[in-house]
Amino acid sequence: MKKTLMTVAILAGFGSQAWAAPSNDEARELVKSYMGQLKPELKKGMKNGGPVNAIEVCHSKAPQIAAELSEQSGWHINRVSLKPRAESGQPDAWEEEVLEKFNRQLEDGANPKKIEFSQTVVMNGEKQFRYMKAIPTGKVCLACHGTDVKAPVKEAIAEHYPKDKATGYHKGELRGAFSFSKSL
Ligand code: HEC
Repeated sequence: MKKTLMTVAILAGFGSQAWAAPSNDEARELVKSYMGQLKPELKKGMKNGGPVNAIEVCHSKAPQIAAELSEQSGWHINRVSLKPRAESGQPDAWEEEVLEKFNRQLEDGANPKKIEFSQTVVMNGEKQFRYMKAIPTGKVCLACHGTDVKAPVKEAIAEHYPKDKATGYHKGELRGAFSFSKSL
C-alpha cells in the first residue's frame, strides 16, 4: 500500500513534460512554432530584396530554426518532399509512403491544412513516435517553387541546390510535409 502511494506521488511529481508521451498535440505546437518563425523571415526576405534575396534567407534560416526547435524540444524536426530542394528534404521509406498517402487524400478532397498522420514505429531497433503534417503550396510559394520561376531566381537556387527538384508546383498542390519524430 505504502509503495503504491509512493509510486503515485513520484509520477504526479514529475508531472507533465518529462513523462508525457509525445503526442499529435505536441507536434502541432511545434509546427506552429516552426512556421511562426520561418514565415516572418521569408516575408521580410522577400520585402527586402525579392525572391533572390529570400532564397538566402530560406537557405540559412530554415535549417537554423529546425535545429533550435529540435534542441529545445527533444524532437527531430524536418521538412520532406517527394521533389526535394534541400538534401535534408529527401524522405525515407516511411515518409515517402506517407507523402504519397497525403497526395491521395488531397485528390479525394481532403482539406490540405488538416492532413496529418502519426504512428509509433521501430526504427533501427529504437521505438519512435513519428508525426507528419502536409504543407500546401500557396501563391507566395510559386516565385521559388512554381512553374514559371524567373531566371535570376533559378540561378540563385542552382547555386545552393544543384540537385533541386522543387519547382513546377501549382497553387493548392502539396509541396511536402513537416516530419517530426521523438524516441520513446
Ligand atoms: C524565396 C524563395 C522561396 C519561397 C518564396 C518559398 N520557398 Fe520553400 N524553399 C526555398 C528554399 C531555398 C528551400 C531549401 C531550404 C533549406 O535549405 O533547408 C525551401 C524548402 C522548402 C521545403 C522543404 C523541403 C524541400 O524541398 O527541401 C518546403 C516544404 C517548402 N520549401 C515549402 C514552401 C512553401 C509551402 C512556401 C510558400 C508558403 C515556400 N516554400 C516558399 C525557397 C523558397
